[in-house]
Amino acid sequence: FAFTPANLEWAMAQITKYPEGRQASAVIPLLWRAQEQEGWISRKAIEYIAEMLGMADIRVLEVATFYFMFQLHPVGSIAHVQVCGTTSCMICGAEDLMAVCKERIAQNQFEISDDGKFTWEEVECLGACANAPMAMIGKDYYEDLTQERFAEILDEMAAGKVPTPGPQQGRFASEPAGGLT
Ligand code: FES
Repeated sequence: FAFTPANLEWAMAQITKYPEGRQASAVIPLLWRAQEQEGWISRKAIEYIAEMLGMADIRVLEVATFYFMFQLHPVGSIAHVQVCGTTSCMICGAEDLMAVCKERIAQNQFEISDDGKFTWEEVECLGACANAPMAMIGKDYYEDLTQERFAEILDEMAAGKVPTPGPQQGRFASEPAGGLT
């Protein structure tokens, strides 16, 4: 792994934002850029970033494994799907969404679909509990899902469309009873 020239220039600019001896503060932006470049973060990318920042490999790996937004496995070319499996979503149908993932993507988490387009995993609460069940697809939240709508969204994406993120049935958690005035 190596950053492209443009990404390398960007990474060096990030590093110089921090005082001498504090280069490790740039670890999250550099990990994020590595993931944007490759789609996921390989062990080689961890080592590369560790060397750039003067950190031990394990310190960079600790950060990468702490945050669910970093993918340490190859992902589908269109999107990695993260289905929330925590209480609110589980009560409201997370298992139905995971059944869709198993049928349309792959039986096992992190397995790439036969067409190479998707991977999926179950994750902990993504903070959109009031609009459960929900899933993060790529960088977007799709909330208030039904099994049918979720399957439809994956089909639309597979066909190259970008379904509108957010609540899928008109429910907005922050809307007071009686509607917005
Ligand atoms: Fe699913 Fe919080 S429980 S978003």
